[in-house]
Amino acid sequence: MYWADHHVLACTASHCAQRGANDVIMKLRREVMKRGLGHRLFVNTCGSIDLCDIGPNLLIYPDDVIYSGVTPQDIPEIVDALERGEIVERLRLTPDTPAEAARRAFYAAAVEPGPSRPAAEFEALAATMDLDAAWIAEQQRRGFIARKPGPDGGPETIAVTTKARDRYGV
Ligand code: FES
Repeated sequence: MYWADHHVLACTASHCAQRGANDVIMKLRREVMKRGLGHRLFVNTCGSIDLCDIGPNLLIYPDDVIYSGVTPQDIPEIVDALERGEIVERLRLTPDTPAEAARRAFYAAAVEPGPSRPAAEFEALAATMDLDAAWIAEQQRRGFIARKPGPDGGPETIAVTTKARDRYGV
């Protein structure tokens, strides 16, 4: 972005919106205006970035940073960090962020020994990792898993899609 130091994209799609994303973006825009930083911080909303269960999410360019679980109370600290060229590590999404690590561990287990298994077995595996039916439904909505009728009228199966395998490297 040639006229700004940082470009902030704030997801305001449905799940992030349900978790308060509109309050986050409003606070961010007010903070940028209050500090007269419009020429340095460019703020836009965006659609889902597939981190729906840990939103609200902010993407920061060119810093290569995603902040997840952001609240309006976090905004002054985030803007302070942007002004100083620093990163708020406690909000930064990394492969080691507990929610991210848990999902990767689940998908690694779910594709063993193959990407598809009976739905009941898939759900039982999820339950061992405290991932409930709502979480499974969300993964399906996002296209990370696909439900299919079992062969020859057998039990329904759940397959981990390429999207999820690519996302979690499993
Ligand atoms: S709704 Fe924000 S990441 Fe999906």
